[in-house]
Amino acid sequence: MGRSGRDYFAINKWRIRKLSFHEYYKLGWFDCGDSEINEFFIEDALPHKQELMAESYVFEYKNSPLALVSFQNDSIQFDDDENGERKKFGKGINLPFQKRYKSIPAIKLGRLGVHKEYVNNGVGSNLLSHCKKLFVTKNRTGCRLITVDSYIKRIEFYQNNDFILLPNQNIEGKKEDDTVIMYCDLKPYSNSPKENSSNLSNFFSTIKKILYT
Ligand SMILES: CC(C)(COP(=O)(O)OP(=O)(O)OC[C@H]1O[C@@H](n2cnc3c(N)ncnc32)[C@H](O)[C@@H]1OP(=O)(O)O)[C@@H](O)C(=O)NCCC(=O)NCCS
Repeated sequence: MGRSGRDYFAINKWRIRKLSFHEYYKLGWFDCGDSEINEFFIEDALPHKQELMAESYVFEYKNSPLALVSFQNDSIQFDDDENGERKKFGKGINLPFQKRYKSIPAIKLGRLGVHKEYVNNGVGSNLLSHCKKLFVTKNRTGCRLITVDSYIKRIEFYQNNDFILLPNQNIEGKKEDDTVIMYCDLKPYSNSPKENSSNLSNFFSTIKKILYT
């Protein structure tokens, strides 16, 4: 179990937390080896925040920054039932009432990078598992999936972290820096209803004790 709030999730010395406003001016330390992603965090992340287009988070170990990630609201839309895609997708994520919805609410990993000094040590995978926990904790709205436009060269990294390719995308002939949509179902990372309902019954029995004793 970790510690959590609206804007952070932490386990032991690892923590993901939302950047404060002034920290956007101090992201010069960040270099993940990908110039486009570096440029986003150093130049564009703040305007994205100000325009309500993205929020950026830092991933830390013992308060030292290791990685940055930005989030945006998203949804996965279904075309039509004709090609059977909605059925296939709904079955894949095991949604009992999926026929009522033409889209599934999601959070998108807009940009993600681990500082180049720390890659290949499990930091990226650990960051993804903190993202999953963050978005099943103290949610204001329903959010069932995490999505990402993954570089072709990073498909395996996301697959190793329980992301799957959205069906019906043509990958053949794409270059390694082209992107494909991948998603991860958040349901397995949320607390079970059983756990919640037992918390609720504990709460009611405490209230009864206070009122009647
Ligand atoms: C992609 C990226 C985020 C991965 O971060 P990372 O910290 O290296 O991720 P991990 O260490 O968890 O996993 C990377 C690889 O290291 C391996 N690995 C995991 N733990 C390891 C460990 N303790 N020791 C050695 N290797 C390890 C994993 O098996 C994985 O292998 P894979 O490439 O076959 O999937 C990072 O390389 C990065 O920031 N790249 C530049 C920006 C980028 O491409 N962003 C993604 C945009 S879609």
